[in-house]
Parts: sequence; structure tokens; C-alpha cells
Amino acid sequence: MSKKAELHYNGKVYEVPVVIGTENENAIDISKLRGKSGLITLDRGFKNTGSCESAITFLDGEEGVLRYRGYSIEELAEKSTFLEVAFLLIYSELPTREELDAFTKDISEHSLVHEDVRSILDGFPSKAHPMGVLSSLVSSLTAFYPKSLDPNRSVEQINGTVIRAIAKLPTLAAWSYKNRVRQPIVYPKNNLSYSANFMQMMFALPTTDYVVSPVITKAIDKLLILHADHEQNCSTSTVRVVGSSHASLYASVSAGIAALWGPLHGGANQAVIEMLEAIRIDGGDVDKYVAKAKDKDDAFRLMGFGHRVYKSFDPRATIIKKAADDVLKELNINDPVLEIAKRLEEVALDDDYFKSRNLYPNVDFYSGIIYRALGIPTDMFTVMFALGRLPGWIAQWKEMRENHEPIGRPRQVYTGSKERKYVPIESR
Ligand code: ACO
Repeated sequence: MSKKAELHYNGKVYEVPVVIGTENENAIDISKLRGKSGLITLDRGFKNTGSCESAITFLDGEEGVLRYRGYSIEELAEKSTFLEVAFLLIYSELPTREELDAFTKDISEHSLVHEDVRSILDGFPSKAHPMGVLSSLVSSLTAFYPKSLDPNRSVEQINGTVIRAIAKLPTLAAWSYKNRVRQPIVYPKNNLSYSANFMQMMFALPTTDYVVSPVITKAIDKLLILHADHEQNCSTSTVRVVGSSHASLYASVSAGIAALWGPLHGGANQAVIEMLEAIRIDGGDVDKYVAKAKDKDDAFRLMGFGHRVYKSFDPRATIIKKAADDVLKELNINDPVLEIAKRLEEVALDDDYFKSRNLYPNVDFYSGIIYRALGIPTDMFTVMFALGRLPGWIAQWKEMRENHEPIGRPRQVYTGSKERKYVPIESR
């Protein structure tokens, strides 16, 4: 039986339908409310607004649950590979062995990018942040694949665009780093796994062979899985909204990369390491920084703490914290910032300010420590996040198109001047 909610306003009662999800999430559907009552809803930062119905990722922020297509993040991080998870997100089901082999082959055979991309890359100064370079290079793919501009093409053609995006992002990401350090670019190698191929493009040099350690590729794969999707976050919503105007997949993903870049979102992983380093250089006084984070007159926030939807714990952070310990042990690395991070977490979790606001470490709190141990430079951390998030962006873009969603166009409450007469410049 369909449920309804009632809204009482100005002496009238308006009935609004209630939509119920498979995990019993209830939502009031207000899409026709304005037509009936003249009312819109106001929800700054979309804190309590569902923008779509989605069958991709389930998240329960109160219980710390995260599932991709019904499978728990804990199991996927433990047992699957990144490309398997990418397949799951994009095509809804875990692949059979044959499907995964074909998918992997397809991706490795499309990893090369057009040689002319190199001249675009050469145009960037070495100081350019790799996220800016990556966003631009992804957008430039529309120039090399002009047919991808039409999002209404056949399923097979769209699939070609999808495969190219997954195949080429590691190449573009590694090249954005090579531009930064002014080293010759390295081409992809089809015989390597997705993560190993990325690492060799990052670190191989014409002068030396680069052998990728299995400890490193396994850790990268796990990190990519943990970042692969996270329902309607800032960058994913951006991808869906940009795509809702029928902009191409590459244009939408390029916009998603820009949204991810900010320090309140994916850019937090870079900001966390910079914060931990600053604390270390300042003598390691964790209490001082906790006090700063609590001080309303100080703009400082504990980066990697807090989350819009997780109000008990971020399950990804739990997995990453353990992985950080394991990876550092396996690589025999003693990083003093790991100790600072753990002390900071301990102090904050015992503090009323953080407890009362449900502020816990998020996915970015420990990920930077692993990236550092794997040799990834700090300003590439958010690029790693983008690599992981790509299948999620693609799945969400595809779902939005397949569901024929309307263009994303919120309303507003106008608070500016009432109509007034134009005043000629001489009279102002
Ligand atoms: N340090 C100190 N105080 C914080 C922090 C923090 N990291 N995060 C939130 N608060 C406080 C706020 O000051 C506010 O306090 P108040 O109620 O007294 O005004 C309260 O907690 C609620 O915070 P909001 O900013 O309103 O929460 P919102 O849901 O809008 O923001 C966000 C969530 C952006 C993640 C925030 O917690 C934050 O800035 N964290 C640090 C940046 C970060 O780690 N971002 C990565 C998020 S995960 C991801 O995107 C991959």
C-alpha cells in the first residue's frame, strides 16, 4: 500500500507521496508540491534532500554500513579486485571469470592515449596541480572522441566510452605527475595489472627498471575499491547534474574531478598529511591542535574528521586504519605521522566537542599515510581518489541517463532587492 504524508499550511492540507527504498528508507516526494501549494523546500547544502532513486550504493550513516550493489565494503575490500568492483558498480552484477577477463583485456587494450594529448600536457607549467591537469585532460578526450559528445548513442557505443575512460584515466593521472616533476612520460603496459600499470607509469624512468612490489599493488587495489563509490556525495552529484544536461561522460567526469579537488571533499587526504606534518614540525602537541579545531574564532578544522552522512563511524576508515598498519609493517616503514594520527584520533574521540557532534575519522584520515608509504607524492593523493571514484561516477552517470532523469535544476528563495528603477550613471 502506498504511503502518504500530510503537510498543513495556511489552513489547507496537502498530501505528498512517500517513497520507500529497499532498505526501508522513507522519503517525501515533493516534486509536485509547488504546483499544488506554491511551496518549495529549502535545504542548504542538501543536508536532508534525496536527489534521485539509485540502486548502486547503500549507506547507513548511523550504523556505519556501506554496500556496493548489496555487497559489503568489508567483503569487497578483502576478497575482490578493483576491476571486479568496477564491473559490479557499472553493470550491476559481479562478473563471471569470462566477463572479468574480457573486461580486463578491453581496458588494457585502450590504455594508450592519443599522442596529441602530450602537446596539451606540455602546455601546463610544472607548478600545475595534478588535479587541474587531470580534469583538463579528461575533458580533452571529448576532442579525440567527438562521437562521445552524444550521450544518446547505442549501449555498445556508450560502453566504448566507458571502457576508454577507465582505461585512460591511469595514463592521464600518471602523466599529470610526470609533468609536475618534469620527467619523460611512461607509456602503459598491457601485460600489467591495472594498479601495477599505473605505478610503473608513475615511477619508471628511462634509466632504471621499475619493478612493482605485490604488497604495493595489493594496497593500491584495496584503496581504489574503498573509494569506488559513495552514493550522492559532492563530486558524484556534480557528475549527475552535469550529465543531466546531456553533457558527455568525459565532460561530466571532468567536472566531478574538479568537485573532488576541494579540501572539504577528496582534497582532504592531501590536507590531512599537510596537517599531520605541521603538527609534527610544531613538536607533536596534539592537544594544541584539538583546541584549535574547537575554537570557533580559529578557522582550523581537524582535516579527515567529520562526515556529512556518517554519524557513528566511517567503515572505510576502519579498514584503512588497519591497512595502514599492515602496509607500513610489510614495507618496514616507521612514519612518525602515523603515531601523531593515532594520538589525534584518541584525543578527539574522547573529547565532548567531537563526541557531541558525532565527528569521527573519515576515509581520508589514514589514506594519506598509506599513499605516502607507497611513495605517492602528497599532491597526487586526490588524484588517487579520482582513480578509485571513476567507476562510481560512471555507474551513477549511466544510471541517471538510463532512468531518463530530468535536468538537475534546483530552485531558490530570492532575498535580493525588490524591483527598482534603473538610475542613469550621472545620477548615482
Ligand atoms: N573539525 C572541527 N569541527 C568540525 C569538523 C572538523 N573536522 N567537522 C565538523 N565540525 C563541526 C562544525 O564546526 C559544526 O559545529 P557547530 O555545530 O558548533 O557549528 C559541526 O561540527 C557540524 O559541521 P558541519 O560543517 O555543519 O557539517 P557538514 O556535514 O556540513 O560537513 C564535512 C561535513 C565537510 C566533512 C566537515 O566535517 C569537515 O569540514 N571535515 C573536515 C574536512 C574533511 O575531512 N573532508 C572529507 C570528508 S570525506 C570525503 O569527502 C571523502
